[in-house]
Amino acid sequence: ALRGSLAPESMKRSQSLNHQLSPQASYKVAILGANGGIGQPLSLLIKMSPLVSALHLYDIANVKGVAADLSHCNTPSQVLDFTGPAEMGNSLKGVNVVVIPAGVPRKPGMTRDDLFNINAGIVKTLVEAVADNCPDAFIQIISNPVNSTVPIAAEVLKKKGVYNPKKLFGVTTLDVVRANTFVAQKKNLKLIDVDVPVIGGHAGITILPLLSKTKPSVSFTDQEVEELTVRIQNAGTEVVEAKAGAGSATLSMAYAAARFVESSLRALDGDGDVYECSFIDSDLTDLPFFASRVKLGKNGVEEVISSDFHGLTEYEQKGLEALKPELKASIEKGITFANKQS
Ligand code: NAD
Ligand code: LMR
Repeated sequence: ALRGSLAPESMKRSQSLNHQLSPQASYKVAILGANGGIGQPLSLLIKMSPLVSALHLYDIANVKGVAADLSHCNTPSQVLDFTGPAEMGNSLKGVNVVVIPAGVPRKPGMTRDDLFNINAGIVKTLVEAVADNCPDAFIQIISNPVNSTVPIAAEVLKKKGVYNPKKLFGVTTLDVVRANTFVAQKKNLKLIDVDVPVIGGHAGITILPLLSKTKPSVSFTDQEVEELTVRIQNAGTEVVEAKAGAGSATLSMAYAAARFVESSLRALDGDGDVYECSFIDSDLTDLPFFASRVKLGKNGVEEVISSDFHGLTEYEQKGLEALKPELKASIEKGITFANKQS
């Protein structure tokens, strides 16, 4: 009942699809960092999914109360809580999708890279446990800086001998959600119809919306392109400043991550028409990781949509060249970190 009115359109679609494809909720999802600003509302949104049979909530503290609270919602999934490193392994056993929003958020004046020193180690430890307990799961990393934490995760998985590049995702859905919202507002379009691919990475100028590929087809003046691009690139900072020291985007992020999780579950469930942008191991450019639109399937990334790269505008082409050095440095920083630790 609740989910009918609150669910984003993608979830509503999946509900009707779910009737056709699989009447039973059957997937297990773990959230690492479930007590956080993102973790709590994300847990709620995933609790609303008809595709989830079990929701495993892990955090270093205070997750029992969140789980008790959520478990009273009369939706199909069972909610289990896991606290601290001793229970981490069990939180991951048998899980199909692992979402990682663990780590510290920005305060005004900080870049996402300023979070590296704390979050790199957190992501490394968590992904080691994922490798040991559910190496076959889809791994979805939200913790910043995504441009470095995803390469760290890849290195950890490689060292453990379980790296599947098709199942490791940096969650960049919030960039698409923002782009869709801002474009719909600016051009007076029906929100539900708007889809803007966002490529590159997830920090500042590495976030590159491809406004020329907006669906439905829409034309922008040069000034609109500049304003929209800069707003999408700085939208995280917009929230950090508005929250004035109390953290970064949590609610819109939870909404975006819930959409990405639901898309992944639909893909696992056999829906052959699931597309999302994500920061992944990629051959699309000369960089080892790159965000682009991908087709999701039962085995993760089924196809990287290279056609978005055809016919880029001069502005987009320049943006693409400009983002590469920063993205390359962030990727290398992650790889170096993962390999210098034993
Ligand atoms: P938060 O501080 O509110 O919550 C973080 C949670 O992680 C806390 O509950 C904390 O206990 C937990 N945690 C810390 N260390 C842990 C560990 N070792 N194991 C398990 N849990 C641990 O922060 P938040 O606002 O939820 O943001 C979390 C992260 O997500 C930040 O790094 C932020 O920058 C990032 N973020 C990313 C995006 C994106 O688009 N990818 C968007 C928003 C925020
Ligand atoms: C965002 O884009 O909102 C997140 O990456 C959080 C941040 O630090 O901006």
